[in-house]
Amino acid sequence: MGDRNDLGGNTVRLILLGGPGAGKSTQAKRLSQTLNIPWISTGDELRAEIVAHTQLGEQVKPAIEQGELVKDETMIGLIRQWLQTTDAASGWLLDGYPRTAFQAEELNFLLDELGQTLDWAIWLEAPEDILRERSQARSRLDDQPEAVQRRIKLLYERTVPILDYYDYRQKLLSVDGNQTPERVEQDIKAALQTKRSI
Ligand code: AP5
Ligand code: MG
Repeated sequence: MGDRNDLGGNTVRLILLGGPGAGKSTQAKRLSQTLNIPWISTGDELRAEIVAHTQLGEQVKPAIEQGELVKDETMIGLIRQWLQTTDAASGWLLDGYPRTAFQAEELNFLLDELGQTLDWAIWLEAPEDILRERSQARSRLDDQPEAVQRRIKLLYERTVPILDYYDYRQKLLSVDGNQTPERVEQDIKAALQTKRSI
């Protein structure tokens, strides 16, 4: 049984998709609190490995710094381990995974194996200039202009194509990410509520 949350206490399993600075982690943090579900940001996990100088951290550091994608196998392993060891009774939220068609397929296989189903893939839409502006207002190790530009390019090349995959499966919710964080959160919740009652 799921814990109570403001969607009526039902289990909810979500993924957040969007470009660098789209607001994935901002919204993930809010939703994780109000829906009372665990959340993972794959980017945060990898950066923490880099800071801790672990073997994984050393391995992924060049890709992260240059705004390249980390290998699918590495990411699949990380998500597998997280889903297998997280108390998923009330659901979960993935921020930054999947990012490629292969990762989306692998998530599907993994969820089948775990007897779980994804509810919604939420696409946080924001124009490129906003993505650039928000990312460069920070000073994360992958927020150099070239790395941000590369992440934006990979968003369109590798991640945007998987929107069709979720749309086809009737699991895609598109939300305007170019509003205040409060409005974005309200729109996400309103979309989740509406879909639940269909
Ligand atoms: P990751 O950390 O996921 O980076 P990203 O996708 O580039 O996204 P960001 O974290 O930069 O942005 P966000 O959407 O979370 O926005 P935020 O809420 O912080 O991944 C980093 C790297 O790890 C990748 O490049 C790759 O190398 C690797 N990686 C991770 N997952 C991978 C995977 N699955 N496969 C392969 N490689 C992977 O907001 C940004 C800023 O804007 C903040 O300052 C915030 O305060 C502000 N802001 C947020 N919302 C609003 C709003 N509505 N209005 C105004 N300001 C806002
Ligand atoms: Mg983030």
